[in-house]
Amino acid sequence: MDVCVIGAGYVGLTTSTVLANYGHRVSCVEKQKEKVEMLKKGELPIYEPGLEKMLVSSIEAGNLDFTDDLAKAVRKSLIIFIAVGTPQNSDGTANLRFFDEVINELSPLIDTYKIIITKSTVPLGTNEDLHLKLIEKGVPQTNFDVVSNPEFLREGTAISDMLHPDKVVIGVRNHTAIQTLQKLYHFIDAPYIITNLTGAEMIKYASNAFLAVKISFINELAKISDAYNVDITDVALGIGMDPRIGHHFLQAGLGYGGSCFPKDLAALEHQSMKKNVTPHLLQAAQMINNSLIDDYLAKIEKEIPAYRNMKITVWGASFKPNTDDTRHSQALKLIERLTEEGCNIHVFDPVVFPKVKNTTAYKDMYESIQQADLLIVATEWRQFIEADWAIVKEKMKGNILVDCRNCIQPYTLKRNGLKYIGVARP
Ligand code: UGA
Repeated sequence: MDVCVIGAGYVGLTTSTVLANYGHRVSCVEKQKEKVEMLKKGELPIYEPGLEKMLVSSIEAGNLDFTDDLAKAVRKSLIIFIAVGTPQNSDGTANLRFFDEVINELSPLIDTYKIIITKSTVPLGTNEDLHLKLIEKGVPQTNFDVVSNPEFLREGTAISDMLHPDKVVIGVRNHTAIQTLQKLYHFIDAPYIITNLTGAEMIKYASNAFLAVKISFINELAKISDAYNVDITDVALGIGMDPRIGHHFLQAGLGYGGSCFPKDLAALEHQSMKKNVTPHLLQAAQMINNSLIDDYLAKIEKEIPAYRNMKITVWGASFKPNTDDTRHSQALKLIERLTEEGCNIHVFDPVVFPKVKNTTAYKDMYESIQQADLLIVATEWRQFIEADWAIVKEKMKGNILVDCRNCIQPYTLKRNGLKYIGVARP
């Protein structure tokens, strides 16, 4: 099929590349000319495991092209994906500027039947509005169908999440487009959840909100467990065995960050308040998450009162492993807070070279801990988990490791003469 994907961010690039890899002819439209040129050469502006290889082979196979010419891409396509960003306004609401711009530019171009699929996470009712706006702008109703098809891919595992989703959520006003979508996604073997446009939008928000609540739940239990000398990893294991609860997203630590959970929870809270529903649980989840950096600073102060005068190395800057994304990164927030406290901070991350004021960033993991008094692990990259602790002990001046992600086995540290401080791990 001929497909146009508008927006070359995480979702747009993964969607374009995977569809092209499975035989569709995809034009990915991006406004930034430099980004288009870069992508045409097969260079990715983001770090996403496996994506660049698939991108290059799709370009070489002639199935994937990048352009800033929206009209050309739209005219030749039956399927139009909207995958532009919906960032957060300062009051927490979703900013639909890019989305609205696309609609304005798109509407005069729809002169034959198109299926317009929204991938972007948009507030409840946005796709209904999109349908109405297109009609208001004079696009005949027979010329289009709007579909809400939210994406559930995670940064770091984007390709496999798109290829093997646990479900495909399709929001529609009528069933006309469904068969075409099934053909489009012929390579996906997953159940379809068909609902109305707003239902699909809600499934996306509800999914992210539930996961964020789950993380805040385990972080709250970690605080209580800590006070009672209970190991939170045992608690997570114990409750996770119950299939009604499940093991995923029960890792206590610095809390959630990234471009999705913080933004989507704030946006859902606003949408709820707009209808006079106070979302107590969503508010509590955000409050808990926002309190975690302070809690860790207090914990570090309690365990190591002299930390402000120490040489501190922080491992990790991205909001989670396997990505170079630092948006709403709890690791970066911790680094910033430590520098505000006047600490001497040194940072290493496998893919991010963070430019934080008053910190020194390193390209080599072991060089970053030379003569350090204290090592803090803020993101659970595999290479930190598998570090050679004998080398760490030899390079560091001190012997304390604070594991803010509970990702390291305490006994491997002890064996190497290092002192371990985890999250609720007595
Ligand atoms: C999230 C969702 O998981 C995806 O399904 C969704 O498509 C995406 O948002 C989106 O809306 O686009 P992502 O933000 O890439 O994906 O990252 P996650 O893997 O969900 O992690 C989010 C944050 O939660 C990270 O900061 C991570 O460190 C933290 N986390 C995760 C925990 O603190 N504990 C856990 O047990 C799990």
